[in-house]
Amino acid sequence: MNALRESYGQEIDQILAKYPDDEKRSAVMPLLFVAMRKDGYVNKQDLEDIGEIIGRSSTDVASILGFYTLFHDKPEGKYRIQVCNDLPCALRGADEYLDNLCDNLGIRPGETTEDGVVTLEAVMCLAACDKAPMFQVQDYNGVAYHENQTVESTMQLVESWRAEGGKDA
Ligand code: FES
Repeated sequence: MNALRESYGQEIDQILAKYPDDEKRSAVMPLLFVAMRKDGYVNKQDLEDIGEIIGRSSTDVASILGFYTLFHDKPEGKYRIQVCNDLPCALRGADEYLDNLCDNLGIRPGETTEDGVVTLEAVMCLAACDKAPMFQVQDYNGVAYHENQTVESTMQLVESWRAEGGKDA
C-alpha cells in the first residue's frame, strides 16, 4: 500500500503526467513537496512511497531530501523563520536583529519554541540583500519573504500565528 498515493493520488498523477515515462524520477522534487504538506516534514514511509512511485530507492530520494534546505526530515515548528545573516545582510544589522529575535523567542538558531509555532534558522543569501534584516518563512504550504524587518514587526507576526492556534491551526 502506498499511503502517499492513497492520500494524494490525483495530484500525484498530475505531477507524473508532466514527465516522460523514462524520466519519472525527475518528479522527485514536487513529490517531496506534496509529502511535506501533511506534517511539515518527510518521514521514512514517504521516502519509500516516493521511491516506489518514481522507480528509485528510498536512499536516492533521501539524498535529494538532505540536499535542499526547504525540505525537512523531522517535525519542527509550524513556521520556519529563516533569517539571512550572510555578509551583506550582516552589514545592515542582521546579526543584531537575529540575536534580539532569539532573545524574544527564547530560542537559539536551530531550535523550536516550546509551543511548536516557530523554528528559527540562520541561512545564507536569500537574494534580498538590500532589504535586510529579512527572512523567509516556510510553512506547510509554501514560502513567503518578509523584508526590512524589526524585532517588533517580526514578533507581531509570530503573535498573529500564535493567535491562529499555533501548531494545530
Ligand atoms: S546576503 Fe542576505 S539576502 Fe543576500
